[in-house]
This record gives sequence, C-alpha cells and structure tokens, in this order.
Amino acid sequence: DDPALLEPRPPVVCVLGHVDHGKTTLLDSIRKANVVSGEAGGITQHIGAYQVEHEDHKITFIDTPGHAAFSKMRERGANVTDIAVLVVAADDGFMPQTDEALKFAQKANVPVVVAINKADAKGANLDRVKQQMQDRNIAPEDWGGETQCEAVSALKGEGIDDLLSAILIQSEILELKANPKCPAKGMVVESQIEQGRGPTATVIIQKGTLKVGNALVCGENYCKVRAMVDENGKPVKSAPPATPVRVLGWSGAPPAGVQFHTVKNEKIAKREVEENVQEARRLSQMSKTSEPADLPTDLDSLLAAIDKQQAKVLRLIVKADVAGSLEAANGVFNDIKSDKVNLEIIESGVGPITKNDVDLASSASAVVVGFNVRQENGVNAVAKHNNVQLILHNIIYELIDQVKEAMAELLD
Ligand code: GTP
Ligand code: NA
Ligand code: MG
Repeated sequence: DDPALLEPRPPVVCVLGHVDHGKTTLLDSIRKANVVSGEAGGITQHIGAYQVEHEDHKITFIDTPGHAAFSKMRERGANVTDIAVLVVAADDGFMPQTDEALKFAQKANVPVVVAINKADAKGANLDRVKQQMQDRNIAPEDWGGETQCEAVSALKGEGIDDLLSAILIQSEILELKANPKCPAKGMVVESQIEQGRGPTATVIIQKGTLKVGNALVCGENYCKVRAMVDENGKPVKSAPPATPVRVLGWSGAPPAGVQFHTVKNEKIAKREVEENVQEARRLSQMSKTSEPADLPTDLDSLLAAIDKQQAKVLRLIVKADVAGSLEAANGVFNDIKSDKVNLEIIESGVGPITKNDVDLASSASAVVVGFNVRQENGVNAVAKHNNVQLILHNIIYELIDQVKEAMAELLD
C-alpha cells in the first residue's frame, strides 16, 4: 500500500493463557459486561471479539479458550493479532497452556504483555511469576527486562487501567496503520450456523472497510454481505480496519482462520469460489492416490496392528455449534487412545442434530455426539425408536468422559 493512504488503526489484542486463569473475567472486567456467567461451566469454547475504548483510543480484544482441546483456536488468535496479553494466575504460575500460548505468540512474532491475574488470591506470588518470566527469556521491565507486566485482579477490577495503558504503549511502539479506503480484507475468527440467520462469521477487518452489500470470497465460501452486527448485536453499515464484526449472508460457514477478500460482485465471488472448490478437490484426490501403503515392518507393530483390527469399534457422528468447536472435539476424540476400543468418526458437521444424523447412526451402529448443540424436534423419539445413543453436552471434558464411558460399555 502507498504509505500516504495509511492511517493509524486500533491494536488487535488476543487474551491467551491456561484454562481458568481468568482470561474471560479479565475481558469481562474490561468491558464491564458479564460474559463469564453466560458460559457453560464457566469455560470459554469460542473466540469472542470485542472493542473497547481507553484514553480515547480503541482496542480490539479477542478471547480464546484455555482448555487443551482448543490449541488451534489459540494459534489462530495469535495469528490475527498485534499484541498478546498472556494471562498468568498469580497463585498457579506458568502452566502448560501458558507456555503453549507464549510459543504461539512468539512464532507469530507478536509482542507479549503479561497480566499477572488473581493478585488478590490466597497463595498469590508475583515474584515467582516474574522469576518464571525471566526463566523464559521474557524478563519483566521492573526486573530490567523488556516485557511489560502488570499485576491485576480481574475479579476486583484492580490494575485494569494500568494494563490497558501498557497495551496502548505497546501499540504505539508498533505504529499500527492500515488503509481504510480500499476493498476490505480480513480473517474469520469464528463461524456458526444461527437459527434464522443461516451461516454467520465473526471476522476481523485487517485492511479496507467492509460494507453491507460487498461480495466476499473466503476459501470455498462466498458472501454477499446482507447485514453486519457488532459484539452487542447492534447493526452496523461499515467496519473499518481492526474492527470485529459478525457478517451475515454466507453461502456456508467459512472455517476459522481463513482469510477473505472483497471482489467486484457476487458473480465474480461465485466463480472464484468454484475455482477454489475445484482446486481443493484436486488436492484431496492427489493426497489420496499418493498415500503410501501403511504396512507394519516389524513383528511388534504387526501384532499391534492385528490387535487393533480385533479391537471393538465405537463409531461416532460428531456435531458441534461452530467450526472451531467441531475441530477441537474431533481432535480430542482422535486423541483418545485405547488398546481395546477404536474410535472412528464416520461423519461430522456444524449445526443441530437432525433425524438424518440419527438415521445414519442407526445404519452404521454409531453414537451421535453433540457438543454445544441442540437437537431438532423429534430427534429424541427417532433415536429411541432406533436404539441410537445420543451424547450431548456443553462442556468439552464432560463430553470426553461420556464418550469414554460409551467405549467402556462396549467391553461389558
Ligand atoms: P477458560 O476460558 O475456560 O480457559 O477460563 P478463563 O481463563 O477465561 O478463566 P475465567 O475467567 O473463566 O475464570 C476462572 C475462574 O477464576 C473463575 O472462577 C473466576 O471467578 C476466577 N477468577 C478470575 N479472575 C480472578 C481474580 O482476579 N481473582 C480471583 N480470586 N479469582 C479470579
Ligand atoms: Na474458565
Ligand atoms: Mg474463558
């Protein structure tokens, strides 16, 4: 872009950290709305995006889940952002997902501001966290290092202003700019199928201004922007750089992490998308035909392979509310290891559980697993009639436990 066209833009900040270290409470305290109480089991399972104002400057925040299953979402969070706020609970210190988040931020070349949260908690130990920062080569400023670090209590709303000021200082150093006048480009942070709205996607605008009526290409999906709403559900007509906005009018739910761009009209969008679909098909054909035969070479692995063949199989049909959750759920199911029962995901998709899902489960002797989804009317009755087990939960670790139980039942 011509430097003359660039204008200052707000920073996009993602809040990363270990599960339950207080990311959502912190964001909540920043926007003074209550997000945490609306979450199932107090666990974040989606990326939420909001914009706030501090000292007359806007800051865009993205919340990511801390549960181990959502690694992809954290990685994407780090990829679309300018600054990462690494939340570390003062009583726990650095934990596995803290280190993973730090790695993502460093890999994406994103500067880190550390929020030592729960400073009010019994057992809080600020010096220990600072020592851990030093051990990781991100020594805090007050220890002679270069990493900004603020002690906060998200719960009591203490230290929040200092943290926001630290973010603005970091943002000033980065001299963030974008051209607001060109056609919009950006990235999908989350997508879902909403009742009455069809597929919707929360996107972050990276350059240009997105307007109602624009035609977008996003991988294998296109969009004629029918409407846009901000994080409060209020309609907006245009979205400048660094703004998070939910977009309606998609041909299908675009996967999170995929880049979109604006084209001249819907016809061109459809044509580009058709080309992308063809290309994806071609690539998947190629990878299928070139896959090497998976033959075990030594006796041990041969025996293990035979064991595996004789193991029982629990087939799953997995449904989830949004693409990111589906990916996370499939990921954890693929990671469940057992010598006696193999898990096989025969079908997965975004959206509520339908009678079709139950029919498929019935003919394949599969179990239907729903993560944070409802079931369509009449599904329960059809499932009962066909003896199909439905496992539904809004909390991922509960779901994992119930799938493990179903595996154990196969052995009874
Ligand atoms: P996930 O999204 O599930 O990874 O969790 P999170 O990091 O968003 O944590 P969340 O905001 O859900 O907070 C987890 C728990 O810590 C809740 O019970 C909060 O009330 C508590 N908590 C958060 N901040 C503070 C704090 O500053 N002090 C104390 N004492 N508790 C806190
Ligand atoms: Na939590
Ligand atoms: Mg959370």
